[in-house]
Amino acid sequence: MTAVPMAGFPGQVQAVVQRFRHVTRLHWQARVPSTNSVALDLARSGAPHGTFVLADRQEAGRGRHGRGWSSPPGVGLWMSWILRPPLPPDRAYLVTWAAAVAVAEAAARTAGLYAEIKWPNDVLVRGRKICGLLAEVASGGDALDFIVLGVGLNVNQAEADFPEAFRDRAASLRSASGHAVDRVLTLAAFLEAFEFEYDRLLRDGGEAVRRAWTERSCVIGRPITLRTGGGEFAARAVGVDPDGALLVERDGTVEAIHSAEVELLRLGEA
Ligand code: BTN
Repeated sequence: MTAVPMAGFPGQVQAVVQRFRHVTRLHWQARVPSTNSVALDLARSGAPHGTFVLADRQEAGRGRHGRGWSSPPGVGLWMSWILRPPLPPDRAYLVTWAAAVAVAEAAARTAGLYAEIKWPNDVLVRGRKICGLLAEVASGGDALDFIVLGVGLNVNQAEADFPEAFRDRAASLRSASGHAVDRVLTLAAFLEAFEFEYDRLLRDGGEAVRRAWTERSCVIGRPITLRTGGGEFAARAVGVDPDGALLVERDGTVEAIHSAEVELLRLGEA
């Protein structure tokens, strides 16, 4: 990747992303409504594999299930990556899992934190969410066209910086570790861990990333509450199927859940 040098944080980002084969273009923005929306527009107009959108602030950051994502300036990594992997559409979820594993790895390397993954792809430290992932996929028939992989990683927010409604469930690398964390080093650690996972996913079809994701899962083997379109029920998570669906057992029957909100039951609640 060659580009005109930029100063400050964007310049440091530019220097870092140049080291990665799967970042081919950088779109730095001081503020955007949503990096996923920017990346979707770029992908639909033919932007190549590796186009990477990073913003200092999002004014309408998007989360799963139509929710918002708080994205204040200077404290987070709000990024969306256009990837065009040679995978069938029903295996696109493995790219998101690779990203969840890579975020957990980056949290360990830059903040010394042990992060867990809550199905389908929230990254938590001690039960609080430090990162959310929003993958938007386009495919034509049997072929995957692109994935926009959106990553919202809370780096340096103090607890009071989070909106009150989810202050007790959110954390940043700083609030969880007790010290400020370098955003650029965190980005570099994430990109390095992601490229490793992504390359091995393309080599082995997903076996290793499934193993790494499962080892980090804080859901499998646990009693949970599931909130689906059909209501709320208690179950035990027993595994994931080849499509990434969560396998849950209730009343002696195992069923595959494709979309739901998972709540972990605390000890004593089961
Ligand atoms: C979730 O947990 O609900 C997913 C949150 C995803 C947020 C990231 S921030 C960067 C990218 N741009 C967006 O608008 N959303 C994702």
